[in-house]
Amino acid sequence: MSGWNRRHLLGLEGMSAAEIELVLDTAASLKEINQRTIKKVPTLRGRTVVNFFYEPSTRTRSSFELAAKRLSADTFSLSASTSSLTKGETLVDTARNLEAMAPDVIVIRHSSAGAPHLLARHVKHASIINAGDGTHEHPTQGLLDLMTIREHKGRLDGLEVAIIGDIAHSRVARSAIIGLNTMGSRVRVYGPRTLLPPAVETLGVSVAGSMAEALEGVDVVMMLRVQRERLKDVLFPSLREYAQRFGLAPHHLKHAKPDVIVMHPGPVNWGVEMSPAMAEGPWSVILEQVANGVAVRMALLYLLLTGEAP
Ligand code: CP
Repeated sequence: MSGWNRRHLLGLEGMSAAEIELVLDTAASLKEINQRTIKKVPTLRGRTVVNFFYEPSTRTRSSFELAAKRLSADTFSLSASTSSLTKGETLVDTARNLEAMAPDVIVIRHSSAGAPHLLARHVKHASIINAGDGTHEHPTQGLLDLMTIREHKGRLDGLEVAIIGDIAHSRVARSAIIGLNTMGSRVRVYGPRTLLPPAVETLGVSVAGSMAEALEGVDVVMMLRVQRERLKDVLFPSLREYAQRFGLAPHHLKHAKPDVIVMHPGPVNWGVEMSPAMAEGPWSVILEQVANGVAVRMALLYLLLTGEAP
């Protein structure tokens, strides 16, 4: 496959291994721009990227903005609280009005699953990128996670990956599971039963019964944030108990492969899903994930707007 045939990036569901590889290869080739003194190339000069975030974000929003700027695209950002959504304008009307100003890409994060798909059906020209929709998918996070794993392990097929924590509410877990399965890794999950989706095995994962079982022989551990903003009911007794049973500490890693890497999408609740000692060990690739987020988003903007490999 030499080209890119998608207008939108709505999820990893339905993406082929070849498409994912094209994104990762493109990100790998663009990544060195971020290490230059002058971090800018003219590739997307004259193109416009709108960041439209209905939910808070540190990493995703700033890396989309940096990615666009480093490729010389113009950007502007809109948040729900400062837009006319506060006056009752609908999501579709907002998108149509934004599109009237001729942006090339609209990046959207929304608390409702399917919001980017709705926009994709209503906009006529712009590309839509899903920056996280409710508990559904976070495809750019999934791609930056795959890039980080591939950099460390040299491959994605045949790896053993543990995803631990709040699987039910995690769009990060969903995209990671889809992407890892597509690329040939095996995924096991571990967390409180109340934070595992019903029939979780149908996602193509196995379920571990203990931390030791979850970590046995794994190449990669992906810890998830406890999403207190999405936990409407009390789904576990206390954060203290959660930390004791499901939090990761350095001594747990004796079960994993010696070169295991530990990932987290951020923001981390230190002392809940991971002990603070996890931040500093040789296993932590958390800030590499953030750095790769810029490269992956540069790659997606490039592919969506040019339709070809660099
Ligand atoms: N990983 C992630 O989506 O972080 P933000 O919520 O800060 O964008």
